[in-house]
Amino acid sequence: MAQTQTENPIRVDARLRHIAFIMDGNGRWAQKRMMPREYGHKVGAATFKKVVRHCGDIGIKTVTVYAFSTENWSRPPREVNAILRLLEEYLDKCENDREAQDIRYRFIGDQSVLPEGLRRRIEHIERTSADRELTLNIALNYGARDELVHAVNRLIAEGKQSVTAEDISGALYTADSPDPDLIVRTGGELRLSNFLLWQAAYAELYFTDVLWPDLSDQDVDAAVRHFYARQRRFGGV
Ligand code: FPP
Repeated sequence: MAQTQTENPIRVDARLRHIAFIMDGNGRWAQKRMMPREYGHKVGAATFKKVVRHCGDIGIKTVTVYAFSTENWSRPPREVNAILRLLEEYLDKCENDREAQDIRYRFIGDQSVLPEGLRRRIEHIERTSADRELTLNIALNYGARDELVHAVNRLIAEGKQSVTAEDISGALYTADSPDPDLIVRTGGELRLSNFLLWQAAYAELYFTDVLWPDLSDQDVDAAVRHFYARQRRFGGV
């Protein structure tokens, strides 16, 4: 749905604090142009920056993106390396990029198997950006089942005999973010692919055929309008 001139500029309120994105379609976008899949990820990384900026501009407080899943290691090494390199380049540039200075960076996922250089950059940026307003969660080597297993094992290690929903939420990688209000998936598939399964309990889901590199600010606004057109009752009447 394209934004028309009659629609007011979007500004979100407290009902929409957190948007999460499944950034799907980079490979197909590149292949349609007879380009290698890695090129799709490169353009996808530029789209990611633009989308985060737009979310901040319309008043979103937390953005989460699915950058690399626990399953993505099964891709050809060349493609895996290209995605990890894009992340490293992004983190390097963040240091000097004025726009990136408003962002509080959090990485969610199992970092233990990431390359040492990337882990160091993550530790540095999380530490130096901690007091900023817009939280950006980057899911890297993330899988929701893996996250739940990790959380439950943590609670067992703490000596819990039984757990509450709050205990589980508090032991997830996303413990300091509110649950997502809206999850947007590009690329036409209608599934969550092991992303934020616990946190998505009451999220509105928005699927678009637009491939991630093509996602525009107007497409994000369309997802936001879709959210506000729904009435969320959280199981009540
Ligand atoms: C899914 O599209 C996308 C990914 C697995 C990687 C997403 C990564 C980026 C957008 C770049 C990350 C960089 C930063 C800085 C966050 P796909 O490859 O599965 O597409 P397809 O379904 O068309 O094959």
